[in-house]
Amino acid sequence: MTFLKVTGLTSRYSSSKGPVYAVDDVDFELDDGESLGIAGESACGKSTLGLSLIRMLSGGTAKGEVLFDDVSILDIAESKFDDEFRWKKISMIFQGAMNSLDPVFTINEQFLEILKQHHFDDSDKIILDAINSVNLDKNILKKYPHELSGGMKQRVIIAMALLLQPKFVIADEPTTALDVLIQSQIINLLKSLKKNGMSFMLITHDLAVLSEISDKIGIMYGGQMVEFGSAEQIYKNPKHPYTRGLLESIPTLKGNAPKYIKGVPPSLLDAPTQCRFIERCPLAIEKCKQLPPKFETDTGYVRCWLYEDEN
Ligand SMILES: Nc1ncnc2c1ncn2[C@@H]1O[C@H](COP(=O)(O)OP(=O)(O)OP(=O)(O)O)[C@@H](O)[C@H]1O
Ligand code: SF4
Ligand SMILES: [Mg+2]
Repeated sequence: MTFLKVTGLTSRYSSSKGPVYAVDDVDFELDDGESLGIAGESACGKSTLGLSLIRMLSGGTAKGEVLFDDVSILDIAESKFDDEFRWKKISMIFQGAMNSLDPVFTINEQFLEILKQHHFDDSDKIILDAINSVNLDKNILKKYPHELSGGMKQRVIIAMALLLQPKFVIADEPTTALDVLIQSQIINLLKSLKKNGMSFMLITHDLAVLSEISDKIGIMYGGQMVEFGSAEQIYKNPKHPYTRGLLESIPTLKGNAPKYIKGVPPSLLDAPTQCRFIERCPLAIEKCKQLPPKFETDTGYVRCWLYEDEN
């Protein structure tokens, strides 16, 4: 059953230079237990998408419809969202959060602080359950952040996101800055949590990491989801030229030289009226001077004029 249905999600920041069109008209759906992988280059709107879903956009606004268990969560009062959804049903592992653990408090004190805000009585059991779920020893609770390795700190951050047993966890680049062995441990951990019924939105630049955990994949470019579909379709039959470019840029063990997409993503300060990938696209045609709508695919949609005739 569908638990998350996002329609026309559009998020803006205000800046001294004008509005930043960070997320534009994003649609996707997730069924119970499904996980979504989000990939795309830097500044394409991936974190903004996550922050919009948990209603923590700083200096920004989100419009559109987000139905979570049939509740329209962008429309309800902040107090209701905070009481019933944030951390309890939807939680987020923030980008770079393992570097923002407070150095002057023990890990246990930092867990207790979170629980205090939510008025929980049986704190010890809740903390131990969370620590166990990320395979950390309870001795870690007496330690200070500087006494932990990067992998342990990231597990603590994941445990904090899991503390109130949410159904859906937005994991924003949880493996960045970790060595490859720790990366694979963290991905294995997310996979085991997924087996227990949790759904993830995993955000990363790395399509190889996404293949491990995603049932569906959304490719972000210039604030838009330019392609959305099943993981199988995206890997076996990528449609958007940008998706293909990203996949071709993954180094292979066979030693095939990765290809790189020349150029950089567009500024999100001005809302482009043409396809946002046009400056870098090897397949551009005259029609691409207009912004493409979403064209349906077997498992989702693609924003590219090349697929107009297939609809
Ligand atoms: N608080 C803010 N105020 C104004 N602009 C912002 C703010 N946060 C992000 N932006 C802008 O919104 C756009 C999207 O940023 P976002 O952080 O969502 O990208 P991202 O895909 O997560 O990038 P990265 O891969 O580097 O983490 C960027 O142009 C960024 O500069
Ligand atoms: S719409 Fe045109 S420019 Fe944009 S990705 Fe498709 S072919 Fe390339
Ligand atoms: Mg980000």
